[in-house]
Amino acid sequence: MCGIVGYVGGQQAAPLLLEGLTRLEHRGYDSAGVAVLAASGIKVAKQAGRVRAIDLPKRFAGKVGIGHTRWATHGPANDVNAHPHRSADGKVAVVHNGIIDNAAALRAELSDLGIDLVSDTDTEVLAHLVALSEAASLEDKVRSALARIEGTYGVAVLHEDFPDRIVVARNGSPLIIGVGEKEMHVASDLAALVRYTTTVAHLEDGQLATVTAAGFTTSSTTDRTATRLANQITELDIDPATYDAGEHESFMYKEILEQPAAAERMLRGRLDERFGTAHLGGLDLDARESRGVKRVKILGCGSAYYVGQMGAALIEELARVPADAEAASEFRYRNPIIEPDTLYLAVSQSGETIDTLLAVQEIRRKGGRVVGLVNVVGSAIARECDGGIYLHAGPEVAVASTKALTNMFLGFALLALHLGRVRDLSVADGRRLIAGLQRLPAQLEEVLKQEDAIAEVAALLSEAESLFFIGRVRGFPVAREGAQKFKEISYRHAEAYPTSELKHGPLALISPEVPTVAIVPADELTDRNVAALHEIDARLGPLVVITHADVDLGEVRATRIDVPANEPELDPILLTIPLQLLAYHAALRLGHDIDKPRNLAKSVTVE
Ligand code: AGP
Repeated sequence: MCGIVGYVGGQQAAPLLLEGLTRLEHRGYDSAGVAVLAASGIKVAKQAGRVRAIDLPKRFAGKVGIGHTRWATHGPANDVNAHPHRSADGKVAVVHNGIIDNAAALRAELSDLGIDLVSDTDTEVLAHLVALSEAASLEDKVRSALARIEGTYGVAVLHEDFPDRIVVARNGSPLIIGVGEKEMHVASDLAALVRYTTTVAHLEDGQLATVTAAGFTTSSTTDRTATRLANQITELDIDPATYDAGEHESFMYKEILEQPAAAERMLRGRLDERFGTAHLGGLDLDARESRGVKRVKILGCGSAYYVGQMGAALIEELARVPADAEAASEFRYRNPIIEPDTLYLAVSQSGETIDTLLAVQEIRRKGGRVVGLVNVVGSAIARECDGGIYLHAGPEVAVASTKALTNMFLGFALLALHLGRVRDLSVADGRRLIAGLQRLPAQLEEVLKQEDAIAEVAALLSEAESLFFIGRVRGFPVAREGAQKFKEISYRHAEAYPTSELKHGPLALISPEVPTVAIVPADELTDRNVAALHEIDARLGPLVVITHADVDLGEVRATRIDVPANEPELDPILLTIPLQLLAYHAALRLGHDIDKPRNLAKSVTVE
């Protein structure tokens, strides 16, 4: 969603800010802008549309500046509502991520004071409140403005009277400070920083930081006397090139191809063949505590929720512990019962998804134990959890999640193995699973080799206005994820159904115009699945079947895509890969922007 960048140092800020903003484009936005502190005061250039469309006026020079990509929440996407917002006297400029819940009341109050609010946004009030503060320092002015605000924020503030600094503060929206050589960067996402520096410090909720060319200091957003120690500065082990699509025409395609290598990274050092178990250092659960887990509850949103359903099945099958997945976005609104012997798992690529983060906080508030399956190291969810399993997928830039999802599945497999082996899973079964996991990267590669054939199928599917994705038991979350991927980037109506439910309604919609993508692994349900295919075929519904080579589809007319078989528990992830390629090639054929699908953001950081 919205993105923030900032720069203070010896170089011209504007080009660096614009470059940083382009690195945040994948997160989704509808308008963008930058502000610099020029000799004559603050200059702002902002407009609706793409970053590259921002028309910088002449003499836009300044070595301190802030920038923003906006995702409209209060007021439409237009030039005026784009950030940065300025105070009435023009001395203050503010960019803000998050939502100010009491914006309407504050806007009314400011109007009563005779201030002319020019935009429809919640953010503008912050600029006025900073300007109205009579405090002596910029830090105190920002503190007094934030004290009036209810809601969430990541905020960066420029003030003409304090030309050497940017003041940033955080409550619920990520902010990272990048440490350079006599220059400092600020961003809401590492992607905007890694070209310039890999030395970073994450701001915590409730912290305010003063950032100058010489360095930064942090303090509290509420208590000016409670100056904290400087935040831990970390050296990231990231190759900046991983944030480039390279020779690939989209990040999604690059990330699909990276899956075998990402899977290998995920498994490296975690498989114990001798004892048939998995080592998960960050889990922080000893054998006794692991045995004490009576139930597993998985929380995530979108694809993270669907892979959570795959994970719940894995845990139930291997560890025989009741497990289920729920949309984190619904969970906390139903005043959930938090049980002391339930292990809660929060699943998130970004580690920023607000619904998942708030669910984690709700569980911890009630004394529950949460383990994170998170890709972004040091992200809000990772830091909020009691322990974690990092996904090691590498940066995932495309909105449509692929390699992170695959590694989430592997994370569940490792956890299921661990929980199973402290219970009744035999060492032989543990070893069987380990051998299956070791085969997976090569099998992922094998599926990817079928790309050309899958692209041909995608071309046919892209012509349909509406499609079904069906599967049973292990195959149903695969179907859900397939439909999700397809609709996200092809904009076609794709609906997932349990195959067993077809007769209870959707069969009425089957026709030559409505294709069905069916997940039919070789397992104990194959016959039932094939029977359902006959019913679709009899109604002339076109069929694409993702299956295994030894599955006999009989007389059914279908285009089949065979994936290699692994252990049945691990098959779901191999069945998922062709669905990624189907979605990708359908969207490509339809001419869509693969990495920036309409209306969607990479990380959903507002409710
Ligand atoms: C995946 O393709 C989607 N873009 C989306 O459903 C995503 O999985 C969801 O928003 C959760 O994101 P997270 O993993 O960063 O928490």
